[in-house]
Amino acid sequence: MLADKDRIFTNLYGLEDWGLKGAIARGQWDGTKAILDKGRDWIINEMKASGLRGRGGAGFGTGLKWSFMPKTSDGRPHYLIVNADESEPGTCKDREILRHDPHTLVEGCLVASFAMGAHIAIIYVRGEFIREREHLQAAVDQARDAGLIGKDNKNGWDFEIIVHHGAGAYICGEETALLESLEGKKGMPRLKPPFPASVGVYGSPTTVNNVESIAVAPTILRRGGAWFASFGRPNNVGTKLFCISGHVERPCTVEETMGITLRELVERHCGGVRGGWDNLLAVIPGGASVRCLPANQCDDLIMDFDSLAKLRSGLGTAAVIVMDKSTDIVRAISRLSYFYKHESCGQCTPCREGTGWMWRVLERMAEGRAEKREIDMLLEVTTQVEGHTICALGDAAAWPVQGLIAHFRPEIERRIDNYHGARPSVGEPVIAEAAE
Ligand SMILES: Cc1cc2nc3c(=O)[nH]c(=O)nc-3n(C[C@H](O)[C@H](O)[C@H](O)COP(=O)(O)O)c2cc1C
Ligand code: SF4
Repeated sequence: MLADKDRIFTNLYGLEDWGLKGAIARGQWDGTKAILDKGRDWIINEMKASGLRGRGGAGFGTGLKWSFMPKTSDGRPHYLIVNADESEPGTCKDREILRHDPHTLVEGCLVASFAMGAHIAIIYVRGEFIREREHLQAAVDQARDAGLIGKDNKNGWDFEIIVHHGAGAYICGEETALLESLEGKKGMPRLKPPFPASVGVYGSPTTVNNVESIAVAPTILRRGGAWFASFGRPNNVGTKLFCISGHVERPCTVEETMGITLRELVERHCGGVRGGWDNLLAVIPGGASVRCLPANQCDDLIMDFDSLAKLRSGLGTAAVIVMDKSTDIVRAISRLSYFYKHESCGQCTPCREGTGWMWRVLERMAEGRAEKREIDMLLEVTTQVEGHTICALGDAAAWPVQGLIAHFRPEIERRIDNYHGARPSVGEPVIAEAAE
């Protein structure tokens, strides 16, 4: 279990003052100038040494990403864009930073921007986050009034932060759609290359990072990359915000060590699965976009990038959705499919057509109003969407369906049998031919 002395977010639950005074009392804005004085290369190397992998879902090395920015400006300004769109179902960690510990992010923006030669950071906040934006804006204003950011500030790097309010579209969390949206256009992902580090917002070098990735940076730089890297397993290190929702006694967001087991996470912090561990049906371990895992894979499940990838699932945003045996798993995944259909921007044919098609078939399967051969057809369609689109929303729509079929095919078949009148009794193995 993570010791209190190693927590980065010490006001996660908003029990103390979230403003500048409280932040300084908790150790933020301590020695920021000394960090900047060590120079850009030192900061980037320390971030690389920390092993921090991006907290927005894909897990790309943060220090490495920062190093992609041009070393000197060719006349174009550099930008840091912070992705505070947080719209992945089940994910509710960045909002806790924004409303309860916003100075971790404001300070993080300064050090990250300095390391990338950016004098402006733009924080793109999810449209529905009203109170969060108010606290964040107040924290930015407090930092400016105290001379920590702004022109001729105490830290020696002219720097401004713009808090931008989105309009509530999931796709605007995809980094290039976010850039389009910032430029006042429809939030439609761009084809890559060019990558944002060479042509990003307003045609300038840009780095997009998740809120948590940026907010942990100042503490990493104060305590050292080796400190952060000492938690977890190689390639999967650090402390991490997990958000646990669904059928647990006490859903919560908690900072823990990377690599904690699912069971410890749920039992120590959430009061256990509703009805006890044996009542677990499945979990979606990383936000709605990853494949679900059945209970029999959950007993010793390690919550980190590589362990979950090995099971063909993923850590994603570390939003753990727990489902007990009362869950209608087919309908639950169908509901997620509806979400992706609704949020598709419609640019790519496989995503635009495939998401709706998958949802409609799953709706029928939830009732059993389908043919068994359609299960493989549905699986085939997921593979036609996955990897064939401009952005990863297509993959995100395909993976939950693949997880359902991989782990709950007998349940889909049982419903089809029931619908067609075969009605095997509970526990009796379904004989495929019976209904066909
Ligand atoms: C459909 C879609 C939605 C996304 N939504 C978010 C989001 O809300 N917040 C976020 O940080 N990253 C989101 N991402 C990932 C971003 O594209 C990007 O990888 C991330 O912001 C990079 O930050 P990191 O390197 O710090 O993880 C989304 C990706 C996709 C494909
Ligand atoms: S995959 Fe879907 S959301 Fe992404 S660009 Fe294509 S149509 Fe738009």
